[in-house]
Amino acid sequence: MTRVGIIGAGFMGGMHAGVYSMLPDVKIAGIADIRGEKAKSLSSRYKTIPYFDPEQLLTRQDISVMDICLPTFLHKEFVIKAAEQGKDILCEKPIALNVGDADEMIGVCRKNKVRLMIGHVIRFWNEYRFLKEAYDRKNYGELKGLSCRRLSPLPTWSWEDWLLNDEKSGGALTDLHIHDTDFILYLIGKNPAKIFSRASGGSGLAHVYTTFTFADGLVANVEGGWDMPAQYPFEMSYTANFEKAVIEFNSRNNPTLVVYESTGKVNRPVFDKIKAEGGSGNIEDLGGYFHEIRYFIEHVSHNKQFNVVTPEDARHSLAVIGVERESMEKNVEILI
Ligand SMILES: NC(=O)c1ccc[n+]([C@@H]2O[C@H](COP(=O)([O-])OP(=O)(O)OC[C@H]3O[C@@H](n4cnc5c(N)ncnc54)[C@H](O)[C@@H]3O)[C@@H](O)[C@H]2O)c1
Repeated sequence: MTRVGIIGAGFMGGMHAGVYSMLPDVKIAGIADIRGEKAKSLSSRYKTIPYFDPEQLLTRQDISVMDICLPTFLHKEFVIKAAEQGKDILCEKPIALNVGDADEMIGVCRKNKVRLMIGHVIRFWNEYRFLKEAYDRKNYGELKGLSCRRLSPLPTWSWEDWLLNDEKSGGALTDLHIHDTDFILYLIGKNPAKIFSRASGGSGLAHVYTTFTFADGLVANVEGGWDMPAQYPFEMSYTANFEKAVIEFNSRNNPTLVVYESTGKVNRPVFDKIKAEGGSGNIEDLGGYFHEIRYFIEHVSHNKQFNVVTPEDARHSLAVIGVERESMEKNVEILI
């Protein structure tokens, strides 16, 4: 039995708790949140102990895994505290707000011989796994071009609106768009040769357009923004143009993914839909979170190395976000 403590009972804490409750051999041993009512209501739903002071949960000796679902500006402080208590750690993405903090977190985890996984959930999302497999196995030949989108209304749910404070969240660039940057780096497995980013309107932190150009000429265009009108339905999508097929995914469609082969054949693969309890917000299919957290638990409980997402991968994605920000600020394409 793996005993897990969750720190942060907001949007993601609720999502993670829902997934843990569905996994065999996992017990949510306690949930901490400085907002007492949040800790209480999530704990009573999952029949566990609420804490208003996260230190009391962190120091419990019977808990081996700590799940950090706190605002990004608190990741460093709490990952380090959990590592010093000898806990294996799942921490939500992005790893931190800057690479210096990420390096420190990775260093402390190494020193204390604890494992750290960052919740880059898109690497575990069925439709993105489908693309990764098609790319790696060359199921449809070489990838010629890719475009990705992630669009959302302003996130208004967060504690004290920390998400809307660029100093605390890094804005849509670091919080939302990093999902696609991270996935593209994972998909292709190497750095782009050139990065060009622009922003629509005023602040580049709310709506970003980036072009990644790879050494072999492959171009990936990414749009990410959270400045859409309140009624705009959340969308994550991609169009992947391979030599012998186009794969089109859109979270708003049903089916979500269609493969148009150049032979004329059209495939509509069916993916499992997993509904976890406790979710709210704009994402209906919680399968990615389920696959991510099941992977994490399976790997910590059997002492296996993470290979889908390492802390260094998460640090690297954050570093590339920094290059995008620089490109935007200087209005130049940056050679890597
Ligand atoms: N993977 C994804 O798809 C995804 C989606 C949304 C958010 N996130 C990430 O998850 C993290 C949390 O985001 P969220 O949307 O759940 O935020 P949130 O504001 O809904 O929840 C954060 C919770 O932390 C609590 N908190 C603040 N300070 C605390 C402290 N010192 N000790 C204990 N509790 C404290 C708040 O009261 C709040 O309930 C962020 O890093 C965010 O980027 C990831």
